[in-house]
Formats: sequence, C-alpha cells, structure tokens
Amino acid sequence: MMLHSPASMPSRAKIPRPTVKRLSLYLRELESQATSPPRTISSRQLGNALGLTDAQVRKDLAYFGQFGHPGVGYQFSELTTELRHILGTDRSWRAIVVGAGNIGRAVINSEHLANKGFAIIAVVDSDPGLIGTTVGGHRVRPISDLTSIITAENPEIGMVAVPANAAQSVTDELIAAGVKGLLNFAPVRLKVDDSVAIVSVDLTVSLEQLAYKITLGLTGEGDETPRHPG
Ligand code: NAI
Repeated sequence: MMLHSPASMPSRAKIPRPTVKRLSLYLRELESQATSPPRTISSRQLGNALGLTDAQVRKDLAYFGQFGHPGVGYQFSELTTELRHILGTDRSWRAIVVGAGNIGRAVINSEHLANKGFAIIAVVDSDPGLIGTTVGGHRVRPISDLTSIITAENPEIGMVAVPANAAQSVTDELIAAGVKGLLNFAPVRLKVDDSVAIVSVDLTVSLEQLAYKITLGLTGEGDETPRHPG
C-alpha cells in the first residue's frame, strides 16, 4: 500500500523532529542492505537494527500514511522509494560552501555527499592565501563573488563553515542572494527569517547526547532502550 500523496499528507510541520531524524536512520539502514535487498522488511527487523522498538518504527511511519502489510512487513523497495521521497533525497541538491578551512574542506572532499545527491557547485573564502587554490576539484573563489555565483548557478543550499564571528554576515549574504536552506557548522544561533530552512551541525551537542546516553545506560541509536532493564 502506498503512503499518502503529498497533498493528503499530514502537515509536515506537525511531525515531530525526532521522527524526521529517525526517517534518515531508516533510510540509511535500508540503503546499507541495497546490494542484496530482502523483498520485505518488518518493523521489528528495522527497529532491531537501530536499537528502536517495532512500535516506534510503526508509529514514525504511520505519520505518512497507512502502509505496510500485516504479517509481512514493508515492501523493501517501496519503503526505500517513499522514504527518499519524504526526505527529498530522490532529487539532487546544489550547495555553495562558504569557508574553505578544516570543516569546509572536509565537506568539499566528501564523495559520500555527492553520492547522496548533494553537489557542491562552488567554494568561497575571504583569505587571499586560499583564494585561487583548488580544494576537491573546486577553485576557491573570493567571498565578493558569492552573490554573482548564487545568481548564476542557483544553489538551494548554503553551507556556513566560517568562524562564529563571521557566520551571521555570511548567512545574511547567502539569504539575500537567494539560497533556500542553510547548513550551519558555526557554534552560533543564526538569525534567519521564516522563509529559510536551517539545520545546525554541532559535534559538541552530539557528544553531549552521547555522554547523556552513556550516563543513563541507553543503547543503540534510539533513546528508549535501557541497557540494564529494570
Ligand atoms: P578554519 O579556521 O579552518 O576555517 C574557516 C574558514 O573561513 C577560513 O578559511 C577563513 O578564511 C574563512 N572565513 C573567515 N571569515 C570569512 C568570511 N567572512 N567569508 C568567507 N570566508 C571566511 O575553521 P574550521 O575549523 O573549518 O571551523 C569552521 C567553523 O566550524 C567554525 O565556526 C568552527 O567553530 C566550527 N566548527 C564546528 C564543528 C561542528 O561540530 N559543527 C566542529 C569544529 C568546528
């Protein structure tokens, strides 16, 4: 059975963030089995692989419609296709990277991103020592070219990989030039208007989450499996 069509889907804004985060984990797990995919996969199998309960898996997927087949599970290829559709990864995305330092270079050099449909189309930096050098096949261009690059090439995503004190001004420029979403690596809360999507990546937050889980004896990628029940 298919999921809701986008028109009949419940408002995305009402779907809890942790659910959306888990959809990526479900997709990653399915894609890891893609070389010899099973015909079907049950909520228990999917949950077990990720340290989640089958009830959690069913609840998450139910936000997107009544699907799955009682006693059988989910059709593997159908679920993979639908998760990609829901997450928007069944299309390609174009990104400009601002800041060609440690983080920027790691992102630019990641083949994994390109394989997942995220193409870096340009890299800009303010350091005269970096401008004109090549990183991951891209010539680093001056920050003063940012607006003209975005106007000409229309990337939807801007990646902010500059020091914290430069992050807001870079963000303002990216938005004014027309990007639709920002991936922010700088450890600051950026001010953006409601027209722009933003996701921040912070290893410190992830490490704090890990410390919390170890402290509580939580295992797996979920948050409800005590290591020592009772
Ligand atoms: P870095 O110093 O190696 O690179 C920053 C780059 O930004 C430099 O090439 C610099 O020339 C450039 N830059 C500075 N001002 C600019 C401007 N106004 N316009 C264009 N380019 C500009 O720094 P690194 O290690 O790559 O870190 C980048 C950011 O990521 C920092 O805010 C850092 O705090 C943060 N960070 C985030 C982590 C995370 O988990 N998300 C982990 C480590 C660092």
